[in-house]
Amino acid sequence: MKGIRLDKVLAARTAKTVYRDGDYAVKVFNEGYSKADVLNEAHNHALVEETALDVPQIEALGMIEGKWAIVMDYIPGPTLARLMREHPENKQAYIGMMTELQMRMHAQTAPKLNYLRDKMSRKLTEARISPAMRYELQVRLDSLPAHTKVCHGDFQPSNIIIREGDGVPFIIDWSHATQGNASADAARTYLLFNLEGDFDSAEIYLKLFSQKSGASIKYVKKWLPIVAASQSVKGKPAEREFLMHWIDVVEYE
Ligand SMILES: Nc1ncnc2c1ncn2[C@@H]1O[C@H](COP(=O)(O)OP(=O)(O)O)[C@@H](O)[C@H]1O
Ligand SMILES: [Mg+2]
Repeated sequence: MKGIRLDKVLAARTAKTVYRDGDYAVKVFNEGYSKADVLNEAHNHALVEETALDVPQIEALGMIEGKWAIVMDYIPGPTLARLMREHPENKQAYIGMMTELQMRMHAQTAPKLNYLRDKMSRKLTEARISPAMRYELQVRLDSLPAHTKVCHGDFQPSNIIIREGDGVPFIIDWSHATQGNASADAARTYLLFNLEGDFDSAEIYLKLFSQKSGASIKYVKKWLPIVAASQSVKGKPAEREFLMHWIDVVEYE
């Protein structure tokens, strides 16, 4: 791809960098990043574009300076993460808005997305846990209802942009999207707040999700050990001990 300028950094991560070039946001993956993962992210994203959700449109996909890149519309405005940092007094309202957005997403379907259940099952196979625990979690996974709701898999404030001017919330970063059970997606969000060390937001979130969606807190928490085991596969070494704790909270009923 020619003519794209990579000089204005929006976000720098270890394995990728997001740049802005005029009306475009360009997500550039480091050399060595799995091509299949990049194409899968773009594919998931494209499938979600077909729903009623507000997401940036992908405009191009290709190589820039030997690296895979996804070119999409730049959405002007702060992320919800930034708003929460800058206006902590509005935390409750922001998390409420985030929960409603997530439920709007769960009301969508995208039949060509991979199944959350299959992904979780594969992650359980890959997770470094005891065979007994693996079996326990697989049985639990099999016992939980299979749904076909659009799930983000990484639904957290840094993946929500509040568009300048009209305040429309856009959801970005669809690399982990699947179709499945909304409570699994909520358990993941709860876990992500906890992994960030934001325990207060985690509890506010879970309470609001439960109130608004009608799913009991207990039911959402049933997904926690499964979601934690899945997160532990690719997770950072520093997170591992913390995740093992969540995996261990399997209640035997
Ligand atoms: N389309 C976009 N418009 C505006 N900003 C974006 C866009 N895509 C990403 N960003 C910015 O880059 C950050 C990282 O992008 P994201 O896709 O979430 O990457 P990561 O997989 O590293 O989390 C976002 O939190 C946001 O600040
Ligand atoms: Mg992100």
